[in-house]
Amino acid sequence: MKELAESANMFRMSKRRIAILPGDGIGPEIMDAVLKILDSAGFEANYVALEAGQTALDKGLPAMPPATIETIREIGIALKSPTTTPIGKGHTSANVALRQALDLFANVRPAITLPGVVGYFDKSRIDIIIVRENTEDLYAGVEYQPHPDVALATKIITRLSCRRLCKYAFEMMVRQDRKRITAVHKANIMKLTDGMFLEEFYRMAKEYPQIKADDIIVDNCCMQLVIKPETFDVLVTENLYGDIVSDLCAGLVGGLGLAPGANIGESCAVFEAVHGSAPDIAGKGIANPTALLFSALMMLCHIGETELADRISRAVMRVLADGKIVTGDLGGTASTTEYTDAVIRELQNS
Ligand code: NAI
Ligand code: MG
Repeated sequence: MKELAESANMFRMSKRRIAILPGDGIGPEIMDAVLKILDSAGFEANYVALEAGQTALDKGLPAMPPATIETIREIGIALKSPTTTPIGKGHTSANVALRQALDLFANVRPAITLPGVVGYFDKSRIDIIIVRENTEDLYAGVEYQPHPDVALATKIITRLSCRRLCKYAFEMMVRQDRKRITAVHKANIMKLTDGMFLEEFYRMAKEYPQIKADDIIVDNCCMQLVIKPETFDVLVTENLYGDIVSDLCAGLVGGLGLAPGANIGESCAVFEAVHGSAPDIAGKGIANPTALLFSALMMLCHIGETELADRISRAVMRVLADGKIVTGDLGGTASTTEYTDAVIRELQNS
C-alpha cells in the first residue's frame, strides 16, 4: 500500500509543471475555459497559479511581483492571461516588466485565416507570422519630463537584440519551411536605430540564402497588409511597430479573439494572447477563449506535444467551420462556456 502511495506520489511529482497567470478582466474566464479544454484532451500538468496585474496590486504587491517572475524562471514555461495597464498614469506594465526580467526577446504572433471565420478579407488566404522584438525600443520605458510642457522618450535599439531576434526568425522559418521574410521599419526617418535593425537583418539574411529577404517601411506595410495580405509570409520588426502591426493582422483574420502569441527567451517561454483584458466585456461570460487556447497550443508544440495540439486544433476548426456555436466577436451568440463545451464535444467525438 505504502509502495503504491509512493509511486502515485512520484507520478504526481513527475507531471510537468506549468505556471498559470489568470490575469485581469476576461483573463480568469478564458483561462478556466482553456484549462478545461486541455484537461478534456487528456493533457496532464501541475499548474502553479501565480499573481499578476490587478490581483497583485490589490494585495499591495507590484503588478508583476518578483516572486511570480522567479517562479516562472524556475519552471521555464507559463500560460498567461492579459493584465490591465492604466493609460497615462498609474503602475507600469506588468507585461513589459515580465518580458524584460525574463529576457523574452522574441514575440511570435501568427495570423492565419481560419475556416468559417468571415472577415473583411475572406477572399485571400492569410498565413503571416509576426516576430516582434520584445524587450527594448520605445517600450524600454525610459521617459522623462525636463519641463512641465515637454516629455521625452528614449528609443533603445541594441545590435545584440537585433541579431538574436533576426536569428530566431530565420531559424523559425527553416523549421517551418517558410519562404519570405520582410523586415518592417522606419529607417528612412530613424536612421541610427532602425538603420541598425535593418543592417543586422540583412547581415543575418546572408546566412540563409534559401530564404527571400526584403524590407518595407511600416506605414506602407500597413497599407499593403490591408490590400494584399496574402503576399506576406514572415514579418520581423521592432517592439512598437510589432505591437501595432500584430493587432492589424489579428483584425485581418477575424479579430483579437483569435490571435495567439508566444514570448520566447533563451530558457523561458510565456504564452499569451495578443489581446488585452477587454474590460468592456469582462465578467459577462461572453469572451472568446480561442486566442488563449491557440497560445496554449503553441505551448504544447513548444514542449513537444504536437499531436495533442493538432487534435485540439482540429476540434476548434470544426466548431469554427460549423459556425453555429461561436462567440459574439465572431457574429455568434454563444457564451464562453457554450463555445468551450462545443470544442470539448468535438474533441470527444474525434
Ligand atoms: P483589448 O485587447 O483588451 O480589447 C480590444 C477590443 O477587443 C475590445 O472591444 C474587447 O472587448 C475585444 N476583445 C479582446 N479580446 C477579446 C476576446 N478574447 N473575446 C472577445 N472580444 C475581445 O484592448 P484594450 O481595451 O485596448 O486594453 C484593455 C487593457 O488590456 C489595457 O489595460 C491594456 O493595457 C491591457 N493589455 C494587456 C495585454 C497583455 O496583458 N498582454 C495586451 C494588450 C492590452
Ligand atoms: Mg498590443
